[in-house]
Amino acid sequence: MTPSQAKVEIKKLSHQIEEHNHRYYVLDQPSISDEEYDRLLKELLALEKEFPQHKLSTSPSQRVGAKVEGDLPTVAHRLKMLSLDNTYSIEEVKLWYERVMKGLKGHKPLLTAEPKIDGASCALTYKQGELVLGATRGDGSVGEDVTHNVRTIRSIPLKLKSLLHPAWLEVHGEVYMDKKDFARLNQERKEQGEELFVNPRNAASGSLKLLDSRMTARRHLRFFVHSFGVWEGKKHPNSQWKFLQQCREYGFAVNPHNRLCKNLDETIAFCQDTQQKRQGLPYDVDGIVIKVNGLKMQDQLGTTLKSPRWAVAFKFPAYQATTIVRDITVQVGRTGVITPVAELEPIFCGGVTISRATLHNFDEIKRLRLNSGDRVLVERAGDVIPKIVKVSEKLSKGSFAIPKICPSCGAKIVKEDMEQVAYLCMNPSCPKQLERRLLHFTSRGAMDIDGLGEAAVIQLLKQGSVKDFVSIYRLRKEDLLKLELFADKKAEKLLTAIEQSKKQSLSRLIYGFGIANIGEKAASVLAGHFGSVDALMKATQEQLTSIHEVGPVTALSVVDFFAQPQVRALIEELKALGFNMKEAKIRKSDKLVGKKFVFTGELENLGRDEAWKMVETQGGEVASMVSPATDYVVAGDKPGSKYAKALKLGIMILNQKQFEEMVHD
Ligand code: IVH
Repeated sequence: MTPSQAKVEIKKLSHQIEEHNHRYYVLDQPSISDEEYDRLLKELLALEKEFPQHKLSTSPSQRVGAKVEGDLPTVAHRLKMLSLDNTYSIEEVKLWYERVMKGLKGHKPLLTAEPKIDGASCALTYKQGELVLGATRGDGSVGEDVTHNVRTIRSIPLKLKSLLHPAWLEVHGEVYMDKKDFARLNQERKEQGEELFVNPRNAASGSLKLLDSRMTARRHLRFFVHSFGVWEGKKHPNSQWKFLQQCREYGFAVNPHNRLCKNLDETIAFCQDTQQKRQGLPYDVDGIVIKVNGLKMQDQLGTTLKSPRWAVAFKFPAYQATTIVRDITVQVGRTGVITPVAELEPIFCGGVTISRATLHNFDEIKRLRLNSGDRVLVERAGDVIPKIVKVSEKLSKGSFAIPKICPSCGAKIVKEDMEQVAYLCMNPSCPKQLERRLLHFTSRGAMDIDGLGEAAVIQLLKQGSVKDFVSIYRLRKEDLLKLELFADKKAEKLLTAIEQSKKQSLSRLIYGFGIANIGEKAASVLAGHFGSVDALMKATQEQLTSIHEVGPVTALSVVDFFAQPQVRALIEELKALGFNMKEAKIRKSDKLVGKKFVFTGELENLGRDEAWKMVETQGGEVASMVSPATDYVVAGDKPGSKYAKALKLGIMILNQKQFEEMVHD
């Protein structure tokens, strides 16, 4: 880059960053992720270092935050509120630790590791033990006076509990909102037609800066203390860990997940472990703050203009990112439902590259005011399919038009029922619907035919050797050998798997039919209750709704499904092929009557449906969600958020062995 090019680039970057600062700190409306922001800032810092003559006197690199918001009174912080340096990999954390060790002349310090809550930074001042000031961070030097709002936060003591406190104390911490409070708030705002908050951080920050503290009180803000600024009139604790313990005694909320680590390895393990568990936590955590524990050592290391040398943030991969919608396409599901999908400019988010996001239905597109070409904020949480949070920059003209015909068969797309949001392709022989039905039938939760995945099914359909469930069982080796990558061995293996699948349980078969509204759980309930396909086929809507777990919509789906002549014909053919059409429905014992179970994670050599049956045949109930009414949570390998919820609610957790012992004897 030539100096004159650099001059232009520096100006552009400075301007961009200032704009983002304003959006983030003043308007509470960020349009890019933290990671992208940090990347821009890093770029600017590098250029300014190489071409210092072109650094602007107002460069955003000079300051920690942005201008303060106008309406609230401002307060100057006695000590500047610093920010933290970010790292995005374990390697960078190791490099930080090496610098720390060097600064401590080779000494290896103890470290604290604290979840970095994604909220709003806040300073609280206590004079003679009483809360006199609550201030936002603002630009680090000057913040806003939010004392009236801070006072409404219940996790903040108005008076310190212990009498042995310093004459002046200024603690810093994070004001945040729990995920469930955030969801509830947005739900309320939606009902009232108000603009939604993008994430819990914006909701917390916006709520903290309200002028009417009665409104703030209703927002259920919370506070975790994490550091201190001023400590006068009494000797301060000599380590971060002792400081946190002391804060607990004063009556502050201190994050129970904070950890004192003996060494770097333990710290790294904690970072990785928390990254795994973050989704199960009740609040958003965007990383881990690592600090040198000893305060003397902290002093020895000192700070730079921006941030302390004795602390660093290890940031988790972002859940949110911005990208461009290239196109909006539609997908046809096995029941004919048409689902719009956003095709994205690929973007790295939450640890993977994403290039598509579901839009659920056409109402969602309307709600988002989305069209192809727009820049959007996407969010990806764990295994959940990425979704579009909002349009962050309107780049398109016009609005999206709902397609009139099915992209697969050309049939007209209709809205079956004005009350429902779904649009449907009503053609029963639509090839895409058939493909989806077949794949559902062979899937892991249904007939579990290993080797009959998407690629094989699509080719078999094209070739014409498969046209319904039954034809799968009439496949010959010659048909399979014509498929790509299929040789003798693989074909034989698949034929065996197909033959074996006839023995699958009745609940799997019912699930495999792909009846609208019948998931694995409902299928298992129906199989257990009726005991055979014949009995289920004859069931009336009244009989079905008399089952505790079955509602009117589900009942109607079942009746409608079995009323179709082609379904009855199919069942006759499956019977002739020797399918397992019965299931033991007798209750073996009453041992588990009244007990509610929830399953999470993978069980070893034990299918979900088998495990559920074990519970149900002994009178127990299986639920899909953890609630205070749950008696046991059975946790297999890689348990999900249900596990964390169970821990939180204090529900008894069983491992597979304990579960099997309980149901066996
Ligand atoms: S220590 C000198 N500890 O992260 C820095 N900060 O850029 C003192 N944060 O907005 C901060 N959790 O409010 C510290 N356990 C924690 C934290 C934490 C969240 C926030 C902090 C600030 C940002 C740092």
